[in-house]
Amino acid sequence: MEENQDKALEAAVAKAKAAKAKADQAKAEGKQENPFSVAPNEQTRVKHVIGIVSGKGGVGKSSVTAGLAVELNRQGFNVGILDADITGPSIPRMFGVTTTPGIVGELMLPAETETGIKLISINLLLEDEETPVIWRGPAIAGVVKQFWSEVIWGDLDYLLVDMPPGTGDVPLTVFQSLPVDGILLVTSPQNLVEMVVKKAYHMAEQMKIPVLGVVNNFAYVQCPHCGEKIEVFGSSDRLDAWAAEAGVKVCATLPMDPDIASLADSGRIENIPVGLMEPVTTVLPE
Ligand SMILES: Nc1ncnc2c1ncn2[C@@H]1O[C@H](COP(=O)(O)OP(=O)(O)O)[C@@H](O)[C@H]1O
Ligand SMILES: [Mg+2]
Ligand SMILES: [Zn+2]
Repeated sequence: MEENQDKALEAAVAKAKAAKAKADQAKAEGKQENPFSVAPNEQTRVKHVIGIVSGKGGVGKSSVTAGLAVELNRQGFNVGILDADITGPSIPRMFGVTTTPGIVGELMLPAETETGIKLISINLLLEDEETPVIWRGPAIAGVVKQFWSEVIWGDLDYLLVDMPPGTGDVPLTVFQSLPVDGILLVTSPQNLVEMVVKKAYHMAEQMKIPVLGVVNNFAYVQCPHCGEKIEVFGSSDRLDAWAAEAGVKVCATLPMDPDIASLADSGRIENIPVGLMEPVTTVLPE
């Protein structure tokens, strides 16, 4: 009996050592292989996973995610959105989608927008959309992993992951568990002054996730009379300087436009102006 236990322990230790050695070797060879990664199901074939990240909330991260999905879809790509902002989900509302995801065996089918963008969000699974999610960090991170591994995404060119703001459990889990190609960092000119943006940048850097580009949202307001651009949140010079120093590209500079807000708030984000998010697509992997 005791002998058996010793053997089991020995075997477990040997297994752990082997796994560690494998991970170390992969690391030494510069491979991204990591022991936390979670496999998708057999009905999911995603070419590129892109994370949309911000230092804090309210800078337009979800709007950029939704708008980028619409632009990519218009360009003919198959697109999905994984709403990883479990405590502040807003993607379904922007698309006016309320469909409950279907269940196939142990897996879930994503909802689909009018133009065929696939999406999954905790909002689609909760009986009452107004109920706040009060789970603790690990439970939330677990749901995000399930949204990757237990959703039938099918064939996608791009899966956009709308992250919760900041550098908490969920971004860390997503970076560890999903094959993220790179991130887009959304900020406003004013927001950059705060450390939170740089923190988000450094987190990606530490996780060896490329920062594909910075989206400067709320950069200006255009006067409807004379067309003058007014930088309501201050000059973007500081953002440009920081980006240059960090070696990242400011891929889009977006105006504060009441039309964007009203389209997002009324569930008609699929009607955003053609080409608005086009500059963002240029930094994505092909
Ligand atoms: N460029 C923009 N012009 C006008 N309103 C915007 C713009 N980007 C976002 N908004 C609005 O600002 C609010 C916050 O945007 P949201 O995308 O939800 O931010 P986050 O996901 O970072 O919290 C929303 O009401 C949205 O409609
Ligand atoms: Mg959001
Ligand atoms: Zn004017």
